[in-house]
Parts: sequence; structure tokens; C-alpha cells
Amino acid sequence: MTRLDLTTPAAARHFFESKLRQRQVNKVLHSFPSPRFWKGGTGTPLDGRPPGSDAPSCELYVALPFCLTTEPAHCGYCLFPTEAYSNQDQLDVYLDFLAREGELYRERWTELQPRSIFIGGGTPNLLKAHQYPRLLSLIHDLLPALPAATPVTLEGIPQLFSREKLEVMQAHGVTRVSMGAQQLDHQLSLLSGRKQQPKHVFQAVEWAAELGLGCNVDLIFGWPQQTLTHLERDLRDLMASGVEHITHYELNVGGATDFALNRREELPGPELVREMYLLARELLTAGSYEQLTPYDFQKKQSQEAGFIYEECRRTFDAHDVWGWGYAAISDFPDHHSPDHHSPDDSPEQIGQNGGSTFMNARTLTAYYAALDAGHLPTEVGYTRTPADLRLSLLFRNLQSLSVDRASYRANFGRDVLEDFPGIWQAAAELGFVTIQDAAIRLTPEGAYRVPLIQTALMQGRVEELTEAHFASMKRPALIQSQPTPPVPLPVAPS
Ligand SMILES: C[S@@+](CC[C@H](N)C(=O)[O-])C[C@H]1O[C@@H](n2cnc3c(N)ncnc32)[C@H](O)[C@@H]1O
Ligand code: SF4
Repeated sequence: MTRLDLTTPAAARHFFESKLRQRQVNKVLHSFPSPRFWKGGTGTPLDGRPPGSDAPSCELYVALPFCLTTEPAHCGYCLFPTEAYSNQDQLDVYLDFLAREGELYRERWTELQPRSIFIGGGTPNLLKAHQYPRLLSLIHDLLPALPAATPVTLEGIPQLFSREKLEVMQAHGVTRVSMGAQQLDHQLSLLSGRKQQPKHVFQAVEWAAELGLGCNVDLIFGWPQQTLTHLERDLRDLMASGVEHITHYELNVGGATDFALNRREELPGPELVREMYLLARELLTAGSYEQLTPYDFQKKQSQEAGFIYEECRRTFDAHDVWGWGYAAISDFPDHHSPDHHSPDDSPEQIGQNGGSTFMNARTLTAYYAALDAGHLPTEVGYTRTPADLRLSLLFRNLQSLSVDRASYRANFGRDVLEDFPGIWQAAAELGFVTIQDAAIRLTPEGAYRVPLIQTALMQGRVEELTEAHFASMKRPALIQSQPTPPVPLPVAPS
């Protein structure tokens, strides 16, 4: 296999330019490598983060798998693992199993103080009002050291955020809700088979504000049949609602989804999608929203805890994620932060091990079977090399719209410009970044091109991993690793 060499600015520039007119594959990558390289039999989060080795900060992600069925399936575009909702009993059974998984962490979590908790899915607001006290008490019972002010977000679809549910959620410790609207134009929304109407979105935003709950609304741009006029109207209406936080994702088209298979011709072209991004950014920032990540915009002077989005991404310091529930992902970066190594350490001594990441079972049958057998339901995992860790943290850091050079140096023992020099230089020449003493900063164009910059940064390592993967497939069956089923493309909790 011929390797692509992006070490010179000319080669990197050629690489970027060859992709500029193609639709971006926008997987919103926060870590490296993608789960397609993860394998079974790599242990569990308890091996990934043994007692006493905790990172200075962590987050907890709690997953609920169920979604209302739609026609077309999976809302026409969604690549997340989900399970079809049929009745309330399913939710009770799932909460029983979630409790059983939690028990396996009880000892380990006694002291845990996540900076934030995100209850995501799937559609967690499918729970009935009487089921939230149970879900929240499961969390509080396992995390007795949790400070009362910890932000707890619960996500769902607009039409299921009834006032009654919002009141119960708030009474039991939810501080913020996040709802996927995707499109406010009813005709465009119907292409996904979702039944929500714009009034559901605005009503839920209003109730959340009345109850003092933080609120985020997800929109997607690059949607079939969408025009700049649709985009502008949606954003203006949403800003007028006063919602605190707007997440504006580029549509990721892929897999066996209806949009990928049957609506490709209706998708706006790459140049129009880019215009949509830049127009949205302009409207939002002019409309008193501040840009936090390539896709997140927060109302200035909002009460929302900005750190959820910023602090965890701004530096390269270690930050754990504990994933609990069906298909949840845990992540334990392992490197010597400035607190842990001496200034005399060589780059080789810093970051010998990149840590590990794990994903829980992506079918309910496998999730329940593992817990019935008394195991943690981990399905696949990956042990990072130091190079993987650097990429992983660089991807997270890019979400903060700049790469902090001092933090990179403190954690990895060298300047970030020494790694990938051709790519940074070419990115600067093309106007994606400006290189300053303190940081490499993304321009608005660069923020849009983050997926492309990530593709260039990971190119060499992906080639190595792909070669290793094919080499392992050629080995005799007996020593082959467990096959890995197709995996979703993660989108960040918003
Ligand atoms: C996985 S959903 C969970 C929340 C809830 N079920 C919903 O649909 O609103 C979280 C967010 O992921 C985003 N998302 C899902 N599939 C996507 C795709 N193919 N491209 C871009 N964003 C996507 C949507 O904006 C969605 O609101
Ligand atoms: S977009 Fe939301 S509701 Fe639709 S399938 Fe994905 S997770 Fe479920």
C-alpha cells in the first residue's frame, strides 16, 4: 500500500485542495482512532482506569437506547445505535439493568465527582414522568460525592418534553435539557419521518426557561432540499425564542440511511453547505451568540456553565469520560500531565502509554446478556499508543477553536508545530488557521474545515492501522481478533 506523505506544506496543500470541492465526511470526531479499529477482548473501563489513577477531571455519560420508530427508519439520517421503543415496560426493564451495571462500579465511583453528567441516547425523554426519580436516584446513589451544583443534561425530542416531565426532571436534579429539532420547517422535518412540529420546540424552550432549566436546541444544516432561506429563517426564529444554546451540526451522510440511499440528489452541494455554515455563524454571532466550538453557540451572558464545552477541550490535560449504559463510550487518556513529570523528562519519557477507550454492547440482547452473566457489558475497546493519544487530544482541542501550544508542550514535551509541520503550514496558507505564539487559531473557514484538518492529521496513523488490520485478517483464523460490527459515527453530546 502506498503511503500518502503529508510532511511538506506542498503535499499537505495538494491534499487539502483535492478535497475542497467534495462534500465533507463530517463525523464530528472528538477522539482517535474511530471505533472501526477497536476490538473485542480488550478489557473493561475498570482495567482502563484502575483505582488511584484517575485523571484530574471527568464527565459521566448515561445512555438510554430507545427511540420512537419512524418511516423512513432512524429518522432517515441517524447513525447512532438505537432500539425501537414499543412500551413503557421496556424502560423499566432497562433501568433495572442500568442499575445492575452501576452496581459493578459502586466501589469505584464512591469518590467520583464528574464535572458534568449527560443523559443521552436514543431518546431519554421517552421515560414517563414517574420514571425520572428512579433514573436520577440511581445516579445520585452511586455518586454520593456529587456536588449539588453539578450540571446534569437530559436530551430528547421536542414533543416529549411535556411541562409535567420538565418539572419532575428539575425536581430530581436535571439542570438542563437538550432537544434535537434538526429543522424547524415542517415540510423539511417530515422528510425524516419525525412527527414534531415547530410549536413543540418553542413551547419546550419556553417551559425550560420558566423553570430555570438550561436549554439547547440541535439543528442540522446540509439537509435534503434545504436552502439558505430555510436556514436563515430557522436560526432567526430560534434566536428570537431566547434559547441559551444552539448546536448547529453539518449533516453527516452515511451508512444505510434513507438520506444516503434515496435522497443524495436532494442534498445541497458542497459549496452551498459551506455557505450555510458561514452564514449561520455570522447570523448567530451577530445575534448575541458566542461561538464555543465549530458547532456550538451560546447566548452571551447566559447562566449556562460554559465550562462543559470549553474547559475540558481547551487544554491537553487528562480528562476521563465514564460511559454507563447501552453503547456508552468510556475514555481514559493516560499521559503524564505537568503535575506528573519532571521538566527534565525527555519526550520519550512523557506519555509512554496513551490509555484506553471502551464501548458497551450495541445491542440490548448483548447488553442484558453480559449483565445477566455478572460482567460489565463492554463490547470493544482500544489501547492507545502515545501517537494515538496526541491525535485524540488534538481532535478534542480543535473543538475549542484553537490549539493551545503551551499545554501541548507541557503534556507532550514538544511544540505542536514540530508534529505535522506541513499540515499546519498548508492550513495557514489556505486561511484555515493563523499561527500565533500562544496558539494555532481556527478562522471561520477553518472551523468549517475541522473534519478535513482532522482527516489530514490522522492520515498517516490511519494508514498504519489499516495495514495492521489487513495483516491481522491474513493470519490463521485461530489467532484472529474478534470481528468488529459496523459502528456509529459519534456526534458530541450537546
Ligand atoms: C443522537 S441524537 C439524540 C437526541 C434525540 N434522539 C434527537 O433525535 O433529537 C443527538 C443529535 O445528534 C445529531 N445527529 C444525529 N445524526 C446525525 C447526522 N447523521 N448528522 C448530523 N447530526 C446528527 C442530531 O442533531 C441529534 O439531535
Ligand atoms: S435522531 Fe434521535 S430520535 Fe432519531 S433515531 Fe437518532 S437518536 Fe433516535
